[in-house]
Amino acid sequence: MMRKQIIEKVKDYVFNLLKNESTGHDYYHIQRVVKNTQIICQAEGLDDYYPTLLAYLHDVGDYKLHGGQDKTELYVQKILKNLIADETFITKLIKDIQLIGFKGGFNQTTNNLEVWVVADADRLDAMGAIGIARAFAYGGSQGNLLHDPMHKPEKFDSIEAYQKSKAPTLQHFYDKLLKLKELMKTKKGREMAEERHKFMKVYLDQFYKEWNI
Ligand code: ADP
Ligand code: NI
Repeated sequence: MMRKQIIEKVKDYVFNLLKNESTGHDYYHIQRVVKNTQIICQAEGLDDYYPTLLAYLHDVGDYKLHGGQDKTELYVQKILKNLIADETFITKLIKDIQLIGFKGGFNQTTNNLEVWVVADADRLDAMGAIGIARAFAYGGSQGNLLHDPMHKPEKFDSIEAYQKSKAPTLQHFYDKLLKLKELMKTKKGREMAEERHKFMKVYLDQFYKEWNI
């Protein structure tokens, strides 16, 4: 099967799987990550076929959508086994997806530029105006408060502790969102992160101003 056809089939599969998702991993998040991925690939002079596949499939098995368990292998195999004969390719893709998320900063690192590109593309969508919207949507879905002036920041000593946190969403800015700019691995990703980072800081200033009126 041609690369273009494979991408089209994967896109349809992901659309059907995620179209009704409302905790910030919906299909339009995937579309934005694909777009960011292609922009970064172009700037880095990289072929975008493999990164685009990674981007489309990076959230299909996310633990948040599957009762706390990572189901990447299952959901990626389900679609790709009928499209791609090379099993080694599929196994590598599954491993690479598992390197992408922030996971409280506990994730393993890699030196594969194709993975960095998608990790940056995903992180960009957790920043800026959309990142803020996604954080409050996710926090709301978990029953977390917007903000609690009495809340004391926690130090997470494991990925599980980070994932279980019931901290108010404003705390998530300090636990993750404001750290992302420094974690960008590609030049283009860092450049794109700049504006979104600044916007989050402006947003926080305004938030506290209104809170403390
Ligand atoms: P992670 O890689 O940290 O598990 P994801 O990228 O899967 O996070 O998270 C999906 C979206 O939900 C992101 O926009 C992220 O910032 C947001 N999010 C994750 N955890 C929280 C939280 N505890 N509070 C608010 N937003 C969160
Ligand atoms: Ni994502």
